[in-house]
Amino acid sequence: MEVKWIDIPSIKDPRGNLAVLEDSKLPFKIKRVYYLFDVPSGSERGGHAHKNLLQLIIPLSGSFELVLKNGQNEKSVTLYNPTRGVLIPTMVWRELRHFSAGAVCLVLASEEYDEDDYIRDWEAFKLKANLS
Ligand code: TYD
Repeated sequence: MEVKWIDIPSIKDPRGNLAVLEDSKLPFKIKRVYYLFDVPSGSERGGHAHKNLLQLIIPLSGSFELVLKNGQNEKSVTLYNPTRGVLIPTMVWRELRHFSAGAVCLVLASEEYDEDDYIRDWEAFKLKANLS
């Protein structure tokens, strides 16, 4: 399971750093932005895959663990650097856990919300992933 890290260019400044993402530098056009915040300690998010959606996950603040599974093997990474995100391709199961206090997880998405694009059943995901 390969993890696709995306480095976000940043302008370092003693007044505070500034990171910038532009459509032309991303592998998809952003149609939706959302973020997870006020995540209680011990809480887990995700637990699904997407058929068509691409997402870039950025730890704006704090840290959390991202587990990616392709139905055959898995990889776990800790995101803590706001200038380093992870691109989640289609048909990859994701789980998010171990959120630090005050963590904010920004998600840039290639499509608007569509519940039909989700695969929320692990067995159904494994079956589909291993057929394609
Ligand atoms: P979900 O994607 O399962 O959250 P996560 O993967 O972060 O744990 O979404 C949780 C709920 O929020 C679910 O009922 C769908 C709803 N939702 C929207 O209505 N719009 C959105 O853009 C997203 C991401 C979720």
